[in-house]
Amino acid sequence: MTDGNRPSHFDEISEFDSSTLFKPNVPALVVSNSDETGSNIMTASWWMVAGYDPFRYMLAVNQKSYTYDIIEANPEFVMAAPSTELVDALTLAGMVSGRDIDKIDHLGLETVPGKEIDVPLLADAVGNIELSVIESFEFEGTTYYFAGVETAHVTTGGMDGRLLSLDADILAYMGSDWAKEDATTKHRYYAELTPENLQSFPGDEIVESLPEDLREQFEE
Ligand SMILES: Cc1cc2nc3c(=O)[nH]c(=O)nc-3n(C[C@H](O)[C@H](O)[C@H](O)COP(=O)(O)O)c2cc1C
Repeated sequence: MTDGNRPSHFDEISEFDSSTLFKPNVPALVVSNSDETGSNIMTASWWMVAGYDPFRYMLAVNQKSYTYDIIEANPEFVMAAPSTELVDALTLAGMVSGRDIDKIDHLGLETVPGKEIDVPLLADAVGNIELSVIESFEFEGTTYYFAGVETAHVTTGGMDGRLLSLDADILAYMGSDWAKEDATTKHRYYAELTPENLQSFPGDEIVESLPEDLREQFEE
């Protein structure tokens, strides 16, 4: 049964819940630093790869945040990939402003100096990307920073070929919800990704299904 073109097996969800359709994802812990302010961390989901050569990322930063002030003072930042150990950091850094508390100090996070930029790395992250802002634009109270990769680091043994080793314990974030038994407590959820659950799909069969002239482009 369909209603127009819309199959009836879909339930309508709110605009806010629509982003759950693209979970799990990995929010970044964005580290920023300036001489005047010192270092700060902020949780950020609004980021994307935004260019291949040179490799760039785009990060959207609300202009009300302390992170915005700091990046405006020193246009560099680190995107740290959280491990499951950093779930408290993800929560706090996404709730409280660095204007009100030194989040790195409060969480007792260990930092190490960046190699190419004057922003520290998070020692307990799965990895850290050092970025310098190339360009930015503003839209409705948010600044979109395009930043080039200066250098990137992964925890020792964190790569399995070109894949991230699932032993690195990446925090695959599923979002937050109010606990069913206690509607005043908000819970954050992440999915546990383990090496045993990694599935490979060579893609040969779908390539073989293509018309021959098109298929030749994908076969060696
Ligand atoms: C899961 C999650 C993702 C978030 N993503 C972003 C983001 O991409 N950009 C942004 O400006 N704020 C984002 N926020 C909100 C900031 O983390 C939050 O406002 C923070 O307190 C700002 O800290 P600051 O004032 O120390 O910079 C996010 C919060 C959460 C919980």
